[in-house]
Amino acid sequence: MKVVVIQGPNLNMLGHREQGIYGAMKLETIHAQMESVAKQNNLEIEFFQSNLEGEIVDKIQECLGDADGIIINPAAYTHTSIAIRDALSAVSLPAVEVHISNIYRREEFRHTSMTAPVCTGQISGFGPFGYHLALISMMQILSEVQAIRQEQEKTQKA
Ligand code: DQA
Repeated sequence: MKVVVIQGPNLNMLGHREQGIYGAMKLETIHAQMESVAKQNNLEIEFFQSNLEGEIVDKIQECLGDADGIIINPAAYTHTSIAIRDALSAVSLPAVEVHISNIYRREEFRHTSMTAPVCTGQISGFGPFGYHLALISMMQILSEVQAIRQEQEKTQKA
């Protein structure tokens, strides 16, 4: 099974950017930690970061037929992007939305997520640890998907 982690604009600046809100951990460190957990669980994982909305849409589309699940922090596009929401809807893969900060404790414009309604669930406010929670959640979702598939195969054979 394969999971693609998609990171939106300015997340390449983690470690430097507004440390009081996002912490001191760099994106590479977050990814290295996720990679090690994925490896321990025989899960393939790929990382992608872009500051461009269209590139994020392209990456989500590429997940169709290539990945089993998506972990996404659309960053500022969370609050604005119908295109990213539509792409997530179109591929119809299990998706977990992550926010490092608690978007509901911040400015009002951050309280609306365009993308959360088309995701399986959202994790917000746990700092970089949220990515670990997202990965654990995704592994649970994928094991349920696998169990359903196996059950369907059994009934088709019977
Ligand atoms: C963010 C929250 C967004 O509102 C913001 O634009 C980001 C990061 C987070 O991870 O907390 O860039 O998605």
